[in-house]
Amino acid sequence: MNLVLMGLPGAGKGTQAEKIVEKYGIPHISTGDMFRAAMKDETELGLKAKSFMDKGELVPDEVTIGIVRERLSKDDCEKGFLLDGFPRTVPQAEALESILSDLVKKLDYVINVQVDQEILMERLTGRRICKSCGATYHLVFNPPANSETCDRCGGELYQRADDNEATVKNRLDVNIKQSQPLLDFYESKGYLKNINGQQDISKVFSDLDELLSTLK
Ligand code: AP5
Ligand code: ZN
Repeated sequence: MNLVLMGLPGAGKGTQAEKIVEKYGIPHISTGDMFRAAMKDETELGLKAKSFMDKGELVPDEVTIGIVRERLSKDDCEKGFLLDGFPRTVPQAEALESILSDLVKKLDYVINVQVDQEILMERLTGRRICKSCGATYHLVFNPPANSETCDRCGGELYQRADDNEATVKNRLDVNIKQSQPLLDFYESKGYLKNINGQQDISKVFSDLDELLSTLK
């Protein structure tokens, strides 16, 4: 299955992606995670991405499209893939069409996780992530047993650098502006499926799972 997961920052893309890849065994391709890994390793890509991410701006299309093209060409994408956070602009969506056509692949669904803007700030500022295994928690909505360690592996929890109030505000503004043209693009091509992201995490997943079971 070849999937794109869309949604505003904090909609729950990463949370649901974790569950989808666990169940369906396809690679999780998150451009945000790829940029953060490059930042940690202080590569040229990481340094370039950092200047945009710290402000909550989008990394330029040519940089982002290049890393996705390279990643989708790897062998493990033969069995399918889950793109999370890409595409985020219409030029990225057009580039994805051309990348997939070169690879003789085609999307199945573009899944849009819908959440009202008002609750996204609270979701993002309360998010905590495990340094060791990457599991995502929320201090109120999905709390770990101990606020400083991961339930799954005991790793230390941290807050993402771009999850402070000022940066979140800009991320939301930037992404809201980009998202409607992208939704229109995929709606017109018949790929778009909307999922209500404003339910319990497990209910959002069961709705997604029901949709994905139609692909088996
Ligand atoms: P990226 O890492 O993709 O971040 P984002 O899109 O801002 O999305 P998030 O990861 O913040 O949110 P999410 O939807 O995954 O939510 P989560 O599941 O964690 O991008 C970061 C930056 O990289 C961008 O700003 C940009 O600079 C750059 N970038 C990345 N891709 C790019 C691209 N294609 N082009 C250009 N630049 C790009 O959930 C959030 C919180 O809510 C968690 O605490 C979670 O526990 C909680 N939660 C989840 N679901 C629920 C629920 N159903 N009910 C209650 N709480 C919930
Ligand atoms: Zn962990």
